[in-house]
Amino acid sequence: MKKKIHFGWFTEYGPIGWDGQDAVEGDWRQPKLYQQMAQICERGLFDFALFADHLGISSSFKGSIENYVKYGLNGINHDSTLLAAMVAASTNHMGVGTTVSTMLTPPYLLARQTASLDHLSMGRVAWNVVTTGNAAGFLNFGVDQPAHDARYDQAEEYLDLCFKLWSSWEPDAVMMDRETGVFADPAKVHPIHFEGEYYKSQGPLNVLPSPQGRPTIIQAGSSPRGRDFAAKWADAVIVGAHYLDDMKAYYDDMKERVTKFGRKPEELKVFFIIKPVIGQTEELVNRKLEALKHPPESVIHAALSALSSRMNYNLSQFNLDEPLPPIDEKEITGGQTTLSRFYTSGRRPTLREIAIEEAGGNKGGIAGTPEQVADQLQHIMESVGGDGFVVRVDAHDQSYMTEFVDTVIPVLQERGLVRKAYKGKTLYENLMEI
Ligand SMILES: Cc1cc2nc3c(=O)[nH]c(=O)nc-3n(C[C@H](O)[C@H](O)[C@H](O)COP(=O)(O)O)c2cc1C
Repeated sequence: MKKKIHFGWFTEYGPIGWDGQDAVEGDWRQPKLYQQMAQICERGLFDFALFADHLGISSSFKGSIENYVKYGLNGINHDSTLLAAMVAASTNHMGVGTTVSTMLTPPYLLARQTASLDHLSMGRVAWNVVTTGNAAGFLNFGVDQPAHDARYDQAEEYLDLCFKLWSSWEPDAVMMDRETGVFADPAKVHPIHFEGEYYKSQGPLNVLPSPQGRPTIIQAGSSPRGRDFAAKWADAVIVGAHYLDDMKAYYDDMKERVTKFGRKPEELKVFFIIKPVIGQTEELVNRKLEALKHPPESVIHAALSALSSRMNYNLSQFNLDEPLPPIDEKEITGGQTTLSRFYTSGRRPTLREIAIEEAGGNKGGIAGTPEQVADQLQHIMESVGGDGFVVRVDAHDQSYMTEFVDTVIPVLQERGLVRKAYKGKTLYENLMEI
């Protein structure tokens, strides 16, 4: 049997794409766009919808919030956990993922909210664990931002505590026996008395054991420290690698790290971020590709501002049309490997070229008719070894997702490369089933 491919949808609860050419009518502040999009993805039998989140408006680019406010960029974000609940309510099978910071959220609150959402969604919630790279969130919460690796060290303890809270009720503790009037067996509900270096919690959690027992854990760190963290804790990782060699290297490295932590390679699924250019004819594909090469200047600035925010590093200091000089990754306090995908195979791109590639959205370089896109997705999976893709599309762009789900997915289904029905009840079961 051929190894099947997983798919996810990745976006954020924010204005991203508000002015896009293909935007459908609708207000990104309201749940409807996301719910409609999630239903399209569910028709395509995706594993999950994942919503990014940020806790402040960045001023990484030019030391000011100006560009971020002016163009409605990442950093302007509404709360992804609340959106995840609304999307869960309008879907039946697909997982819903929220992004929550370990640095700026008390662990008891996180454990409680995700367990509650796991009940509300009947076992479909995922938590995208972030350690918050951008300074803005810390400034808003009035907390000092620890160094890059120190944030991961603290997150290890955070996860340890949350896992103890999620298992503070034995799975069969709840009886709800009307005849005897016994709600739950007190002998099976345990305080945890956690006292660590950073956190303390008495427990038990005051939420009943949820269908998944804990949220499915997603992670997106790609520095060596981030990869180790993911290898230890995550069920899925998402990564922005644009070229096949990078994808293969990342996949092999992650699967090897997972085994170092005593886990099986298949317990961690790797998802590559893509946005294939799809056209029903080759002529249409070429026209779309050509348009992506010439974005307006505002789009270039928006892309550089977004990259600066993700890195927590001011890219405006460099000349747009000269090859970007190497930046010492240790100087980057946010996503340390944010730019590495642009440098693959000895490339020396200018900042403008990086911005065009970033803005173009053709993540993964995949383009063609539905058959050709399916060929390329299949080729990547066969070359890399497996797992899946997250399609990075904003909620306005429903015509894109409709085309993907209704024309590319059926080709993959015919080839036996994606599921034809959900088998599991929970997100975790569906993620681990293939
Ligand atoms: C695809 C992707 C999505 C991410 N989404 C978020 C997010 O929504 N919120 C956030 O605070 N950080 C987000 N991050 C940042 C990472 O979780 C991580 O904190 C950051 O990349 C720094 O770790 P690293 O140097 O190990 O990559 C994302 C990173 C990637 C690559």
